[in-house]
Amino acid sequence: MELYIDTASLDEIKQAHDLGVLDGVTTNPSLIAKEGVDYTKRLAEICEVVSGPVSAEVIAVDYDGMIREGRDRAKIAENIVVKLPSTLAGLRACKTLSDEGTRTNLTLCFQPLQAMLVAKAGAFLVSPFIGRLDDIAQDGMTLIQEIRQIYDNFGYPTKLLAASIRHPMHVVQCALAGADVATVPFDVIKKMLNHPLTDSGLEKFVADYKKAFG
Ligand code: G3P
Repeated sequence: MELYIDTASLDEIKQAHDLGVLDGVTTNPSLIAKEGVDYTKRLAEICEVVSGPVSAEVIAVDYDGMIREGRDRAKIAENIVVKLPSTLAGLRACKTLSDEGTRTNLTLCFQPLQAMLVAKAGAFLVSPFIGRLDDIAQDGMTLIQEIRQIYDNFGYPTKLLAASIRHPMHVVQCALAGADVATVPFDVIKKMLNHPLTDSGLEKFVADYKKAFG
């Protein structure tokens, strides 16, 4: 499974990149707002660090605005993927931009038919939001399983990118369910390597060695 980081923090992106496990980056308007930086400038900075897909979301909610912003974002770097909402206007924009050769990521996906339609419109990635479904007592992982099944049934090439991941078990379940990609916040990436037996085992190895050889 590919691993993307879900952040607009350049520092977090650099740290994750240095771990050697990063395949791409997803950003969104809320993450950029949290950083308080210019979206275009930050995307260019991210693309200097990461060569894999970098998702850049449009702010516009109408077709013309999405196309204008999408074309602008696509000019920033070759690895930019234009992120569009899974709405009627987003679907149409997905088709137009995909036909022009721009890769797209259809976001805010909460049900399998959105995923089926965006695949038909040529989306490169679809982003089902697991955590936000769990938040309202719906099973986010069921959505991942259903999309996987539909994409496999019909051979849709759109990559299933599990988003809105809140903890390491989400990542485990996504990998088991066959998500192509998981986009994960940096604090969860760090937790993915944690195990108390690793820590206590390492402590003992070092202590035993020092005891014997000083
Ligand atoms: O990038 C989209 C998604 O991962 C958002 O996650 O935690 O705001 O639901 P969250």
